[in-house]
Amino acid sequence: MSERSMLMNLLMAGAAVAAVATALIMWQKMQKGLPVQTRNQALGLLYEFQHAAATPLHVLRQIAEHMTIEMTAGLMTEGKSNLLMLPTFVENLPDGSEEGLFYALDLGGTNFRVLRCLLGGLEGRVLKQEYEEVPIPKSLMLGTSEELFDFIAKRLVDFVNREGEEYRAKNRRQQTVREIGLTFSFPVKQTSVKSGILIQWSKGFKIADGVGADVVALLQSAINRQHGPKIEVAVLVNDTVGTLAGGRYWNDDVMVGMILGTGTNACYVERDLPSHAPSRTGEMVINMEWGGFWSSHLPRTYADEQLDNESVNPGQAGYEKMIGGMYLGEIVRRVLLRMAREAALFGDQGVPSKMTVPFSLVTPEMSKMHADESGDLRVVAKILRDVFGIQKTELPSRRIVHDVCDIVTMRSARLAAAGIVGILKKIGGDSWDTSGQSGQLKTINRNSRVATSTKLATGRIVVAMDGGLYEHYTQYRIYMQAAVNELLSEATAKRLVIQLSKDGSGIGATILAACHSNYRY
Ligand code: BGC
Repeated sequence: MSERSMLMNLLMAGAAVAAVATALIMWQKMQKGLPVQTRNQALGLLYEFQHAAATPLHVLRQIAEHMTIEMTAGLMTEGKSNLLMLPTFVENLPDGSEEGLFYALDLGGTNFRVLRCLLGGLEGRVLKQEYEEVPIPKSLMLGTSEELFDFIAKRLVDFVNREGEEYRAKNRRQQTVREIGLTFSFPVKQTSVKSGILIQWSKGFKIADGVGADVVALLQSAINRQHGPKIEVAVLVNDTVGTLAGGRYWNDDVMVGMILGTGTNACYVERDLPSHAPSRTGEMVINMEWGGFWSSHLPRTYADEQLDNESVNPGQAGYEKMIGGMYLGEIVRRVLLRMAREAALFGDQGVPSKMTVPFSLVTPEMSKMHADESGDLRVVAKILRDVFGIQKTELPSRRIVHDVCDIVTMRSARLAAAGIVGILKKIGGDSWDTSGQSGQLKTINRNSRVATSTKLATGRIVVAMDGGLYEHYTQYRIYMQAAVNELLSEATAKRLVIQLSKDGSGIGATILAACHSNYRY
């Protein structure tokens, strides 16, 4: 390093220290409550975490660019990317003309859902639908695949048995077989549109004997063991694919399906297909499994490292562990725990024992603290009491807790936005560039047929979105849209529409079951 740059570095470091010191003095003047020493230490830890988790625009651009590169690599050469880029064999997306009674079974998180849907074609569309949601006992998430699938099959059969007369009367197809779309939201290597091998579990599931098995065969055997009505799986889809199909049913511009819920993932319509994804229509939906994305540009903190090391799948799903709803509350808990241990954030009460329990702070509770707009942060106080048993907290500590929630949420939303922009670049080419702000992105995908497609290059692209994180967390949506706006030019940002497709993954699966029905009545 030259003397001049060393001097510059020293000056910059000095300025940063001075800025932090001024902030600390201001803070001390403003706050009463915690002893000064403790407050300083807690603020020091807060700044350190904020710095490590930062997502400035140039970092987001690098992540978006890296996402595009990994997409191409994963698509062309199996196993050469941390993105699996799985062909789904879904070549036909719905157009609204689908008719008949179809079921879906949606498994992918802490709950599973069974649905029935009566489709009435272009005129009638969704004539009638109903669903039932069932929590999955924790023991089944760590047991055997037979136990899990038997549990699910039983609930499915019970649900089918309760099919109302109104579904039969209005169903012109007089079906003897009930066809279902199986939404299975884990990484699956599909071998056809209705078969696929489980690659690995995620989101806290760990069932050793399921990996490597055909999930449709597992479900079909479990259904057969129930000796109930005749039920057949017509299509196997990831939840992102169901969401895309559900969105496309209403809107031709939907090209991407995305989940921001317990886990996170995206799929999209690809036209530049490799030989291992043959398609008669010239296009196929690709399940990216973007939770597995990794880039050295991702802002990883000590809390992420700890979480990963102690997870059931260490070293995997790195992007998901920074974004998914399953993890956000847990990251906040880990940061607060460190502050309680090293900076007595909660004063005399020391380290609350409940705070040492992994996953004791769930993301919905975290988001309530984050949304607290009261002057004295009383919601934060209540949740700290209810969740961690901390009876009394000072306002300065509550402010720090609020800030940690903000940092973790903002990082998740901005990283997801960078991922979306990476996809747009892949399917839409240069027109989705960031208005000349990032020259490097322009070289990607130059020869793609998709990039030359006028619609994708100049028209709207709609992202159909499902998942509780996006649906229920207002500030999350605001942060995400703001990051998209930063990344794209004003005109380009207007061409991107992120549309909530509520429960799209389940309904989409029933519609895809109709598209792939084996019975033409
Ligand atoms: C799974 C994906 C799924 C996503 C959202 C991830 O953990 O691997 O298949 O789409 O969660 O549910």
